[in-house]
Amino acid sequence: MLHQSELGDLAEVFEAFVARHCQGSAEDAFNIELKREHSWQVMANARAIAESLALPDAPRRLCVAAGLLHDFGRFPQYMQYKTFHDGKSENHARLGARHLRKERACAGMEARARRLVQAAVILHNRRELPRGISPVLRCLAEVVRDADKLDIIRVMAGHFSSPDASNPVVTLHVKEDPQAYTPALLETILQGKSGNYAAMQWTNDFKILLCGWVSQLTFSRSRTLLDEHGHIHRLLDTLPDLQAMRQLQEVVRTQLRTPLPEPACTQALRQWQG
Ligand SMILES: [Fe+2]
Repeated sequence: MLHQSELGDLAEVFEAFVARHCQGSAEDAFNIELKREHSWQVMANARAIAESLALPDAPRRLCVAAGLLHDFGRFPQYMQYKTFHDGKSENHARLGARHLRKERACAGMEARARRLVQAAVILHNRRELPRGISPVLRCLAEVVRDADKLDIIRVMAGHFSSPDASNPVVTLHVKEDPQAYTPALLETILQGKSGNYAAMQWTNDFKILLCGWVSQLTFSRSRTLLDEHGHIHRLLDTLPDLQAMRQLQEVVRTQLRTPLPEPACTQALRQWQG
């Protein structure tokens, strides 16, 4: 359900921006729509996480805005390069922040809120958040990062479990093979470390990397949302029938059932008043 007051004029600003970037073939329209839908789903996830943290209105609005806008850069990225692969084009998070400023997309927000949202957009795709950022920004960025991971798992689970799993833009150009995977990447994930997109060669590597995100989630609610939505289970079901994959499935299912302590930065966001 959409709470208009939470977004102010952002819904219109976002939709108008997307519409300007939706041009070209049916395939182009499909890929743009994928990111438009993703943006709204990330907003919904960010709101659900914010509610689980009992955030008051002002910080909850930051989460909702940053969730909707986090992939603002995807639209100009696709229009210019016809790919979502940052390495083959440019960093879509920085591109997004640049376009947010150029479009004055957050003009309806207070300056402090605007700066936080733009910073969270820039940070959303970093492998690790930098040291030294404020606890408020850290918490906001973590909400967006969790919300984003949950929805990418939805998109990819749908993609990998559909019979026509061959859109190279969605799979970031990895190779198709029912059994092949990169053992070193699996080992990294089983050790609870985050995988690197650059280590992916096969579609199974992409699935393994996504499974590794469960251990990287920050908020307890993110784990329960993932479990409840069911997409992670669909993704696990698409892994090849190999002993190594059964181990991965067990590790992930255990993580999904394990609650997380509230991170220390949460209190700072809860107390943020703009
Ligand atoms: Fe992104």
